[in-house]
Amino acid sequence: MKPKVYVTRRIPEIGLKILREHCEVVYRDELPPPARDELLKAVEDVNAVYCTLNETIDKELIDRAKSLKVVGTMSVGVDHIDVEYATKKGIYIVYTPGVLTETVADHTWALLLAVARRIVEADSYVRKGEWKIPFAPTMMLGHDVYGKVLGIIGLGRIGQAVARRAKGFNMRILYYDVVRREALEKELGVEYAPLERLLMESDYVSIHVPLTPETRGLIGEKELRLMKRTAILVNTSRGPVVDQKALFRALKEGWIAGAGLDVFEKEPIDPNDPLLRLENVVVTPHIGSASHDTRNKMAELTAMGIVKVLKGEVPENLLNPEVINVRPLSMVKMI
Ligand code: GLV
Repeated sequence: MKPKVYVTRRIPEIGLKILREHCEVVYRDELPPPARDELLKAVEDVNAVYCTLNETIDKELIDRAKSLKVVGTMSVGVDHIDVEYATKKGIYIVYTPGVLTETVADHTWALLLAVARRIVEADSYVRKGEWKIPFAPTMMLGHDVYGKVLGIIGLGRIGQAVARRAKGFNMRILYYDVVRREALEKELGVEYAPLERLLMESDYVSIHVPLTPETRGLIGEKELRLMKRTAILVNTSRGPVVDQKALFRALKEGWIAGAGLDVFEKEPIDPNDPLLRLENVVVTPHIGSASHDTRNKMAELTAMGIVKVLKGEVPENLLNPEVINVRPLSMVKMI
């Protein structure tokens, strides 16, 4: 009997193709994520779940899914998964590290430049017919990027890719991380700074940490007040790393100059949220990794990871290798 896989929502075709070659696929071909009840019911009799960051894979779900062997999440972030409990229960988790790094770094830069040079505001100014005077020496002035100081919070894969791009802008690069990365300091020409110093000295601050109990609310009122009044904050990691109410005040009251945000405390953000009325903010709807190539690669990697586990092999993108000691691969093998 083929293993049964539940795919929680519409995914790139390549992922489906791989799964269908080996498994019975229950495909929920919908854009929005399933409601919690629907999800809990759907996982009851499946061997694998292909999900996204919007489906919470917690103790309740894991306990309901009695035949579950592997969860593949089409994301690099895994804050929606109780990895510890899954591991304890012998459930393999595969995810998508690596394949989205450069695409998210590109998007981070798109936001940084858009805020610095007021691109969205300027675009709408032209379209609305407000551009009535030709080149004006004092019109729509923004902030330089070239030669400024970039502070990177979290020098993981994406933080490093953001740093590499900053070299072309001749920036001085500071980074803060829970671990000092001396080999990378040399390779990338970056300098370690404690968080407070990074916030005080940077013209641009970009966040690249995973969401964990330690990073939730990492950037709050105190931290925002340390930043330069001319500084710009960019967040393409997870919304709850930043206290959004404090950020609103910082932007409105001029503690900092602007923000570029791809992620929010609650997604989708309420269209009436006052943050969206501020002109010094550029927002995108959590699309950091959303290029055609990268989403295909993510779908492929997720599906391949699921199939490999079900074949009794160790996938390259296994998040919790300790699980092998809890439930050996010979016990999950179905293909
Ligand atoms: C997107 O946010 C991801 O975690 O892949």
